[in-house]
Amino acid sequence: MSKVLVTGGLGYIGSHTAVELLARGHDVVIADNLANTRPEVLDGIAAIAGRRPTWGEVDLADRAATHRFLAAHEDLDGIIHFAAHKAVGESVQKPLAYYHNNLGSLVNLLEFVAQKPDCAFIFSSSCTVYGQADSLPVKEDAPVKPAESPYGNTKQIGEEIIRDAAKAHGFRAIALRYFNPVGAHPSAKIGELPLGVPQNLVPFITQSAAGLRGGLKVFGNDYPTRDGTCIRDYIHVVDVAKAHILAMDRLLAKKGDEAVEVFNLGTGTGSTVVEVIHAFEKATGVKLQWEFAERRPGDVIAAYADTQRAAEGLGWRAELPLERSMADAWRWQQSLPK
Ligand code: UD1
Repeated sequence: MSKVLVTGGLGYIGSHTAVELLARGHDVVIADNLANTRPEVLDGIAAIAGRRPTWGEVDLADRAATHRFLAAHEDLDGIIHFAAHKAVGESVQKPLAYYHNNLGSLVNLLEFVAQKPDCAFIFSSSCTVYGQADSLPVKEDAPVKPAESPYGNTKQIGEEIIRDAAKAHGFRAIALRYFNPVGAHPSAKIGELPLGVPQNLVPFITQSAAGLRGGLKVFGNDYPTRDGTCIRDYIHVVDVAKAHILAMDRLLAKKGDEAVEVFNLGTGTGSTVVEVIHAFEKATGVKLQWEFAERRPGDVIAAYADTQRAAEGLGWRAELPLERSMADAWRWQQSLPK
């Protein structure tokens, strides 16, 4: 059994990954500064897993604090680094805050790994690095396109920092490029916490369905797709979480020829915005009110994953269909206090 640090472990994908690690008997240490979540998420994790991970409230962009925290956990086998700001629009308004937080925390953690090169390192990257890919489904060796936002840039630069550091210091790492994680744990004890107006499609849908929010808009209906709306690869968050455990196993077994490997995490199937709305309605029986609106600046037309490398390298495939994601997202929404 391994001891794994999950940064941002009280966040959306981090909490689901903590649950999967605990389910396999691993020791989990969480570092989270509560920037975009609440401490009660720890209760949700403990309720599902039957075990409570250790949690430290630490700002990983604070070098001294990070090093103090890590000094107390010298025996880590691996780090899964989720902690980051992730709002695209906000990153355009506050680029320096994004670079400081997302890249500062990464460097601080890698300083530890550089001293302990047997410590496996997994980084949350994003399909945003591909921009509008020239061919679909997009493979991992597709060129990285100029970032549309400081947020996207932190993912690109983050991957580069890891490559440089792994080469210089002899550690191994995996960058996982997520497509669109959605849904929630089937227990409805953890999910995506709605702080503020959701920018992402599925939380906006569930809040609209719950009557908390009106004005669901579909951004653009004149894209060159089957129904004119953008296509994305929506993947259940539990499937995403499970891939991290397999990536950790791969690193600890020292499989793979390269020090830093990259894997797409998607289903391989693209859905249009209107198809997502219909999937939600079908899965839940709840009718949504929505209308078409202007295109949202910065949106790519279509993105969905080539999944072959993850299947071969990680032995992983997404298992849960879109309707299941919608049903679980809705059950989670209904469990929240209004
Ligand atoms: C966005 C980010 C991406 C980030 C990811 C996770 C952008 C351009 N991309 O992905 O970099 O990694 O979130 O936070 O912001 N839509 C609507 N109505 C809505 C909301 C969304 O029609 O109210 C549409 C969008 O135009 C898009 C699709 O739904 O076509 C998915 O949007 P969203 O959930 O925001 O994800 P991405 O934009 O793919």
